[in-house]
Amino acid sequence: MRLLHGPDEVMTATAGREVTPEEVLDLYSWPAGERWVRAMMVTTLDGAAAGPDGLSGTISSAADQEVFSAVRRLADAVLVGGGTLRAEGYGPMPAVDDEHAARLRRERGKRPAPVLAVVSGSLDLPWDDPVFTDSAERVVVLTGTSADEAARERARAHAGRDGRIDLVELGTERVGAGAALDALAERGLPHVVCEGGPSLLEDLVREDRLDEADITLSPVFAGTAQTPRTRGLEQVAGFALAHVLTGDDGLMNRYLRPAHR
Ligand SMILES: NC(=O)c1ccc[n+]([C@@H]2O[C@H](COP(=O)([O-])OP(=O)(O)OC[C@H]3O[C@@H](n4cnc5c(N)ncnc54)[C@H](OP(=O)(O)O)[C@@H]3O)[C@@H](O)[C@H]2O)c1
Repeated sequence: MRLLHGPDEVMTATAGREVTPEEVLDLYSWPAGERWVRAMMVTTLDGAAAGPDGLSGTISSAADQEVFSAVRRLADAVLVGGGTLRAEGYGPMPAVDDEHAARLRRERGKRPAPVLAVVSGSLDLPWDDPVFTDSAERVVVLTGTSADEAARERARAHAGRDGRIDLVELGTERVGAGAALDALAERGLPHVVCEGGPSLLEDLVREDRLDEADITLSPVFAGTAQTPRTRGLEQVAGFALAHVLTGDDGLMNRYLRPAHR
């Protein structure tokens, strides 16, 4: 991957050569002592969020995955909607095994693994899957009041069974993005990457809780039949370009809310 646009000092230092994995990690560092929420998403040339198989992997690339992994490696929490957890078949969230990133996590007082946090209204989740039973840290499940009592009881039973699930029942029908992020911050998880999907991401933007959008433009058309429709925003929310990496003919764009530039 090469840097096409970015901070002057990084541009000068990396001009004309591939950036190293450590440099990629630096380009996605988190602000110390501050809460920060970034989105990590991939989109196609025709604006699709998933390939014909309904998965984001088919519109991704090795370069996109390198950024995806760098963003995860120093995150406190990985936030996803129930739709994404079910569609993408999330596996367990393991401890970060790359020695450089693991050392940085220790130095910064972070847990060995990011915590997976799932937002679900229905609580219709694959409770017995390894993502819940084998993640290194307890999985946080954030829900509102919309699930029926049977689903709620099932979730409580799973949460109470072996302590692998931290069920957060908020008092509103939908899970407010701010309330979800507050619950994560209360658990010592200030640096959050939202890996989608589009509905949850839109809620973060609606409540102006998204600080950074890391959006890969993938050099493919996929059609939008598998891309979910969302509720829609009342008005557009602008972001400012911070850097652009290129690799595998894709563009890995980092955008910031203007207040944070
Ligand atoms: N291109 C990418 O980078 C990318 C990333 C992620 C996902 N995707 C794709 O996007 C598709 C899924 O999209 P999606 O919009 O359905 O994903 P999503 O936002 O992950 O899922 C929507 C579901 O999440 C829960 N949810 C989200 N916000 C909520 C809120 N405020 N309160 C309560 N529950 C909330 C609900 O779950 P319940 O149904 O459990 O109530 C809702 O049905 C899949 O095809 C996936 O592959 C693409």
